[in-house]
Amino acid sequence: MKSLVTEVGPDLFRISTFHPGYSIQINQFLLKDDEPFLMHTSFKKLFPATLDAVTSVMDPKKLRWIGFSHFEPDECGALNDWLKVAPQAQAMTSVVGAMVMMDDFADRPARALADDERIPTGNHRLQFLSTPHVPHGWDAGMFFDEVSRTLFCSDLFFHPGDPEPCTESEIVSRAQEAIVQGASSPLAKDMPYTPYTDLTLDRLAALKPATLALMHGSTYRGNGEQALRELAKVIKATHGRKPE
Ligand SMILES: [Fe+2]
Ligand SMILES: [Fe+2]
Repeated sequence: MKSLVTEVGPDLFRISTFHPGYSIQINQFLLKDDEPFLMHTSFKKLFPATLDAVTSVMDPKKLRWIGFSHFEPDECGALNDWLKVAPQAQAMTSVVGAMVMMDDFADRPARALADDERIPTGNHRLQFLSTPHVPHGWDAGMFFDEVSRTLFCSDLFFHPGDPEPCTESEIVSRAQEAIVQGASSPLAKDMPYTPYTDLTLDRLAALKPATLALMHGSTYRGNGEQALRELAKVIKATHGRKPE
């Protein structure tokens, strides 16, 4: 398998690997800064492809930070492979993620991030937002690059297939279609609708992102606030509906 590398913003590279078994893209994002940051490691099985892709942009040994939204194999399965390749690299995750998952899983201790904590990387500054159960997992969190206004939005806006790297057309309908189709699949209950769901999505929208860096699907450039508010309505109408 080979990954496609696309520059999608200042110092920001999208690394996309199409997984034919799942028929979805697995996307990582590399922020090439003084302290380079990789968002998601991808699957352990895809590590060689991801490593090749990162190597085409920078020396992978110089990687400093590895972020991910929640503990799942597509998000952080290859973490320990990266820790071997990059001696200075450290995982960053929520307090729950560090304490409950990384303490056992990671070969080196992870940095536990408080909600709203800022991580300067050089020319960029990341804000960490703790987002329990959005998109899923009690350890969930998201990173926002305050300089480029890029929200690394994890599995939100998921859409399948191998679409174009970037789009400026609206993406909510793609996400809605995927949610509706997914409702009749074994993966239907991927997102719990909790008392915090609306508040969390509202908080993400208030960031007014200019770029939504999706883990599965095209990167969206445009009015991120509007897209998130529309997605929140879709999620409420689907995941938030009482079972019949
Ligand atoms: Fe996930
Ligand atoms: Fe994912």
